[in-house]
Amino acid sequence: MNPIFSALQTSVFEVMSRLARETGAVNLGQGFPDDPGPEDVRRRAADAVISGWNQYPPMMGLPELRQATAAHFKHWQGLDLDPDSEIMVTSGATEAIAGALMALITPGDEVVLFEPMYDAYVPLVRRAGGIPKFVTLTPPAFGLSEAALARAFSPKTRVVLFNNPLNPTATIFSDADLDLLADFCIRHDAVAICDEVWEHVVFDGSRHVPMLARPGMRERTVKISSAGKIFSLTGWKVGMVMAAPELMRVLAKAHQYITFTTPPNLQAAVAYGLGKDEAYFEGMRADFQRSRDRFAGGLKDLGFSVLPSVGTYFLNVDIAPLGEHNDIAFCQRLVTENGVAAIPVSAFYAEGAVKNVVRFCFAKHDATLDAALERLAGLRRAA
Ligand SMILES: Cc1ncc(COP(=O)(O)O)c(C=O)c1O
Repeated sequence: MNPIFSALQTSVFEVMSRLARETGAVNLGQGFPDDPGPEDVRRRAADAVISGWNQYPPMMGLPELRQATAAHFKHWQGLDLDPDSEIMVTSGATEAIAGALMALITPGDEVVLFEPMYDAYVPLVRRAGGIPKFVTLTPPAFGLSEAALARAFSPKTRVVLFNNPLNPTATIFSDADLDLLADFCIRHDAVAICDEVWEHVVFDGSRHVPMLARPGMRERTVKISSAGKIFSLTGWKVGMVMAAPELMRVLAKAHQYITFTTPPNLQAAVAYGLGKDEAYFEGMRADFQRSRDRFAGGLKDLGFSVLPSVGTYFLNVDIAPLGEHNDIAFCQRLVTENGVAAIPVSAFYAEGAVKNVVRFCFAKHDATLDAALERLAGLRRAA
């Protein structure tokens, strides 16, 4: 057995979800919305199964989805992408990340990672033969610094794996951070694999800035998007990968031998969805923002220290003011004694664990959020 995977423990997400099921807790741990997702997009997928093509679609993705992706990101992010040579469809962002790492890393290459980070990153980097070098981000800003980047980059750096907006912190990197990182990538001749799956889930009028568009990054960025996140259909696993032709040729080779393709009905539905008018995307953001405000307001009223959430559908609480310094123990008590499942943010760190931050998912019905607040009120009363 390969030790990288066989040595992995059961993830905290599974532990918390199991505890939530066993205890009947309100589950704000797992990151998926209560809402079933846009009905017209789901209907397109259903219709395409009945009346569309159900055999292997093209390896790079349905032409209509690649064209829709180009038009979508031209409109929303000002990107000029050639649908034939610069866009590929994968089975979710996760396949795109795994494929990009396999395609770009030669064993022994160093990969710069920013912790806290999505749990799949480290095992995938290691399995591809990469050596992780961590930049540790800390609350409340979780921003970059020149000194931290200088410690992580070396002449062996080949790839940077960067997530913006960042899960689990619910923060967005500033333009200055993006340019600082771009500068390091250019100086070290590194490729930035940019996991931008949360690009549409941003609040308070902010707009996502893609790394691909920063000066000097057009030829050295792999942009990864996810229809699962764009349309709140997390089970769909349809990813869109964007990169300059030279990079794309190699990424396509990895994709060819991993999944080769992605269900054509879902691709057709995503192509339709990406063309929806602005009102849909603004409405989706407004709905999530309203849930965020409801939950954040309720937590603040209860005296919790809520960290800013400007993107993703997560919200973090600093538990240090409660006298708590062990987020894992806190979350275990929270689910078993108070009936609310959350995720300890230390689970997203590989080295420099921050142990006083707890993540909640607020993409839930009002009644679910209110039930969680009611139970958390019990915790504050007992304190
Ligand atoms: C940062 C990040 N990357 C990737 C993914 C997975 O995307 P997909 O479901 O399209 O594979 C997630 C899902 O939560 C995520 O938060």
